[in-house]
Amino acid sequence: MSEQATLILGDSRYELPVVEGTEGERAIDIRDLRARTGHITLDPGFANTGSCESAITFIDGERGILRYRGIPIEQFADGPNFVEVAWLLIFGRLPTEAESRRFSAELTAHANLDEGMKHHFEGFPRSAPPMAILSAMINALSCFYPELFELEDDDQFRCAAARLISKVRTVAAYAYRHSVGKPYIYPDPKLRYVSNFLHMMFSQPYQQHICDEAVRDALNLILILHADHEQNCSTSTVRIVGSSQANLFASCAAGVCALWGPLHGGANVEVLTMLDEIHRGRVTPEEYVRLAKDKDSKVRLMGFGHRVYKNFDPRAKMLGEVAERLLANLGREDPLLDIARKLEEIALSDPYFVERKLYPNVDFYSGIILRAIGIPTNMFTVIFAIGRLPGWIAHWWEQHQGSVTRIARPRQIYVGNTEMDYVPFDARG
Ligand code: CMC
Repeated sequence: MSEQATLILGDSRYELPVVEGTEGERAIDIRDLRARTGHITLDPGFANTGSCESAITFIDGERGILRYRGIPIEQFADGPNFVEVAWLLIFGRLPTEAESRRFSAELTAHANLDEGMKHHFEGFPRSAPPMAILSAMINALSCFYPELFELEDDDQFRCAAARLISKVRTVAAYAYRHSVGKPYIYPDPKLRYVSNFLHMMFSQPYQQHICDEAVRDALNLILILHADHEQNCSTSTVRIVGSSQANLFASCAAGVCALWGPLHGGANVEVLTMLDEIHRGRVTPEEYVRLAKDKDSKVRLMGFGHRVYKNFDPRAKMLGEVAERLLANLGREDPLLDIARKLEEIALSDPYFVERKLYPNVDFYSGIILRAIGIPTNMFTVIFAIGRLPGWIAHWWEQHQGSVTRIARPRQIYVGNTEMDYVPFDARG
C-alpha cells in the first residue's frame, strides 16, 4: 500500500495520500483537505507548497544539483547553444539535428518586428526601464500576431514559441537602442541567436559589430544557466496567469514583471550596485557584510542566499569560473571581480551566513560577465528574461497539456474587522 500521512484534528483522523517524485521528493497531497476537514493550510511565501507536478527541471538544493530534463547543468558548459537547450526544455528531449535546424530556421524567419511596433518604442521616454518596455512589448507582440492566441496543436505552439524566443531578443535590443538614442539595427539572418543579439545591440548602420568568440560563448552560457529554475517567482507567475487561460504572450509578459523585482532577477543589478559602492570606497567589504547581518539595516548581501539552495548554487560556481576565463581571454581585469571574491570569502567564513546556509547565487557573478561583454547595467535583468523565456514557455505548455487545469486561486486566513456598520461622514468621530 502506498504511504499515507495521518492528520489528527480534534477527535478526527484523516488519512492523506503521500505522492513521490522520480527523485524521491515527497509531498502530502492535500487537494481535498478543505472539503474533508473544513481547514486550509497557511504557507506564506509557499516555501512548503508544491503547486504542481512538473517534469522540466530538477533541483536538489541540499546537494547543489540542477538538471534540465534530467541533464546536469554542468554538461552544458562547453556544448550546446542556447536554442538547443530551449528546445530541450520546451519539448522534453534533445532535438535531432533536423529538428534543431528547423527550429533555428524558424527563429531566423521570425526575428524581425512588424514595422508598426517601432512607434511603440518611440513612445517611451529615453529613461524608461528596459524591463517595463520588455513587458509592454511582449503584450504588444500578441496584438500583431492574434492568430497565436489560439494554439490548437503542437505545430501552432512551436511556431508561437519560436516567434516569442526570437522576437524577445529584438525587442530587448531595440529597447536598449532607444534608451541610448541610436538607430535600430535589423536582425541579420546570417547570424546565430547570440551573435545576432550582440549585432542588434552594438552594430552601427555604417559598421558591423564583430562579435568576439569568447564573448559569444560567455553570453550563450549565461542564457543557458538562466533558462529554467522550476517554480521560482516569475515561473509561478507565468503558471498562475496561464491558469486563467490567458494566452502565452500575456503570461510571459507577467513573468517579466515578476522577474524585475530585486529579490528575484533584479538582484543582478543590485549586486553590481553593491560592488560598485565598495569599489568607490563608500563602504568596505567587511562593513557591507556587517550591515547585511544587521536586521535593522534592511541591507542584504545581494547575490547571496536562495530559497531552494542550501549549498552552492551550481550556476554561481560555473559563472564565477566564466567571469575569470572571459576577463583573461579579453586580457582585462575587473576590480569588481576581486571585490566579489573578497565578499564571498568573508561571508562564507562568517557564522551568520554559514548557519543560515547562504551561498552565492546565480546573480552574484553574472553581472561581472555582462559588464565585460559591454551590456549596460540596466539591461542585466532583461538578459535574465531572455534566458528564462524558454523555461516560462515550457511551464506554460506543460500546464496547458496537463490533466489538472484548475485556475490558481489560493485562499487566505482573514484577520480584518468582523462585521460592522457603514457610518455616514457627519456621524464619524
Ligand atoms: N543577506 C543577509 N541575510 C540574508 C540574505 C542575504 N542575502 N538572504 C537571506 N538572509 C537571512 C534572512 O535575513 C533570514 O535571517 P533570519 O532567519 O535571521 O530571519 C534567513 O537568512 C532566511 O532568509 P529568508 O529571507 O527567509 O529566505 P527566503 O528563502 O525567503 O529568501 C532570497 C531567499 C533569495 C530572497 C534571499 O536570500 C535574498 O533576499 N537574497 C538577496 C537577493 C538575491 O540575491 N536574490 C536572487 C535570488 S537567486 C535568483 C533569482 O531567484 O532570481
